[in-house]
Amino acid sequence: MKKIIIGNWKMNPETAKEAQGVFSDVALGVKGFRKTSVVICAPSVFLEAMNALKIKGVSLGAENCFFGDVGPYTGEISAVQLKNIGVKYVILGHSERRALGEDNELISKKIKSAISAGLKVVLCVGETSRDEAGEYLSFLHDELVESLSKIKKVDLKNLIIAYEPIWAVGKNAPRSATPEDVHQATLLLRKILVEMFGRESGLGVPVIYGGSVNTKNALEMITLGGVDGLLAGRESLDSDKFVEIARIANTV
Ligand code: 13P
Repeated sequence: MKKIIIGNWKMNPETAKEAQGVFSDVALGVKGFRKTSVVICAPSVFLEAMNALKIKGVSLGAENCFFGDVGPYTGEISAVQLKNIGVKYVILGHSERRALGEDNELISKKIKSAISAGLKVVLCVGETSRDEAGEYLSFLHDELVESLSKIKKVDLKNLIIAYEPIWAVGKNAPRSATPEDVHQATLLLRKILVEMFGRESGLGVPVIYGGSVNTKNALEMITLGGVDGLLAGRESLDSDKFVEIARIANTV
């Protein structure tokens, strides 16, 4: 399986020109990386301008979408609309959207809709904090099972799971995740996928890690953490750092 390196730009940058600039620099930098798929997920307002660059070798992703194809949903953007402007991936269930009120039920509808529209879904799951009794493990279990409640086996080829523990995300994160933290959680996620969809299909779903990914921890997260790729936030806005993360993944 190719390693998957995804950048989530969040609500950055401020202009389409800057977005195009970082996108083309990344494309230039990752040219020839054969063992890695690189994706940039950007704010919806920039996606058309980025797609217009006709860049090869880096796929375009959105950071959210709504369910349904058209309809009376003021301010929302559908998966079909994204697909029609050249988008290939969409992040769903990110903790920053869950914090705004998205629940597993809504996320499950969005996933179904996005996959039907032909997008690949990057589903984010992750606990707010860890506890001695391991309650967070059942939280993770329920989050994954409920978010995937509308998904069938045939949909799995268009699904990536991103383990993003909320306590390790962002510059104010209380602590960094260790590769052991990541390994433990991803083992659980893979086990749940196997329980839900059977061994072969369940183990075929890539599980990646996100939360303060940088050029220093990328290698150990992949090798010791046992993940199929990385989802970088802050470091993906710096083309040099993001390319370096992809280069590291490409050597594994
Ligand atoms: P940071 O890499 O900035 O911690 O963000 C992680 C993230 O939320 C990616 O989706």
